[in-house]
Parts: sequence; C-alpha cells; structure tokens
Amino acid sequence: MADAPANDAPYRLIDDVRFGDDVRVYSFTNLYGCSVGDGTRIGTFVEVQRGATIGSRCKIQSHTFICDGVRIGDGVFVGHGVMFINDKQPRAVGEGGNLQAEDDWELVETVVRDGASLGSGSVILCGVTIGAGALVGAGAVVTRDVPPGAVVAGVPARALLASRA
Ligand SMILES: CC(C)(COP(=O)(O)OP(=O)(O)OC[C@H]1O[C@@H](n2cnc3c(N)ncnc32)[C@H](O)[C@@H]1OP(=O)(O)O)[C@@H](O)C(=O)NCCC(=O)NCCS
Repeated sequence: MADAPANDAPYRLIDDVRFGDDVRVYSFTNLYGCSVGDGTRIGTFVEVQRGATIGSRCKIQSHTFICDGVRIGDGVFVGHGVMFINDKQPRAVGEGGNLQAEDDWELVETVVRDGASLGSGSVILCGVTIGAGALVGAGAVVTRDVPPGAVVAGVPARALLASRA
C-alpha cells in the first residue's frame, strides 16, 4: 500500500489514505482516512470519508460522496453524483440545542459487492447491501437490499428486470 496515488493532479486534499498500485485520483477531490484498491479511478469533486473502503478496479465518477461506513468491493462502477448515507435519523443539534458530536448519532454501514454498478444520481440509504453484479438505475433511491444481479430503479428502488447475470 502507498500513501499517494499514482498520478499527479492539482487541488487534491489527501490525508491518511492507503492506496493500492496504479490508483488515479483527479482534481478537486477530498480523501481522508480511507483505503482505495489497485487500479481504481476517482473522478473530480469526489469526497471519500474516513472509514470508507473502496476495492480494486473501481470507477468512482465525478461529484460522488462516499461516507464513513461504506464498503465497496472490486470492479464496482459508481456513477456521477451518487450519494451514500450513514445516519438514518440525522439531526443538527441534540436535546439541549448544542451541535451534535460524534457520539450523538449511530453510524449505519452499507456494503456494495463486487461488480455492482450504481447509476448517476442514485441515493443509497444506509444499512443496505447491494449484491454482486447488481445494477441500480439512474436517480434511484435504494432503501432495501438489492439481490445479486438484479436491476432496480425508481423511488423507492424496485426490481426492473429479474436478473442480467
Ligand atoms: C435502469 C436501466 C439499467 C434500465 O435500462 P434498460 O433495461 O435498457 O431499460 P429501458 O430503458 O428499456 O426502460 C425500461 C423501463 O424502465 C424505466 N426506466 C429505465 N430507467 C429508469 C430509471 N433510471 N428510473 C426509473 N425508471 C427507469 C423506463 O421508463 C421503462 O419504463 P416503461 O416500460 O414504463 O416505459 C437504465 O435506464 C439506467 O438507469 N442505467 C444507469 C445509467 C447511468 O446512470 N449511467 C452512469 C454513467 S453515464
């Protein structure tokens, strides 16, 4: 593992990230405390938070947000502007009116298995597993587990076709 990507690009904030071989990270990105596997590409305006893991040979397209608690397998396509979520009941402040801190909310994890694809603009609610090779349509809101090989779309996401495996 390396502490820098394979390419140079201006305007990147990279802190405490573990990179595999030949990872490319483009400009205007913010990656901290996460890991990225061999050969993965990370497009512009992507943020990957502390605690997230991304496998090998993934394509993370521009404007996507990958938060703490998200585990992405190998060969996963994440389209443009995909939003992950890790707090199902978000609040800015607690009962006393003070800003919430780390211990005031419950982190809920999400798993994306090998070979899955997430369409542009999709929103992945926390606590779900997206199965291997599944395809999430553009603009979908995923609220439940997606079976391996399934194609889902819509709000909330439902099966479009039984399987393309
Ligand atoms: C979900 C998807 C894979 C379906 O493709 P497809 O199997 O060729 O489906 P079709 O285009 O034949 O559409 C089948 C039906 O699903 C609907 N549909 C297709 N995509 C949809 C989507 N993203 N959300 C809601 N409905 C969708 C169509 O309107 C159609 O409905 P109808 O039969 O009532 O007219 C595709 O539309 C999609 O969203 N792919 C993701 C693309 C993407 O984000 N790429 C990122 C990189 S650019």
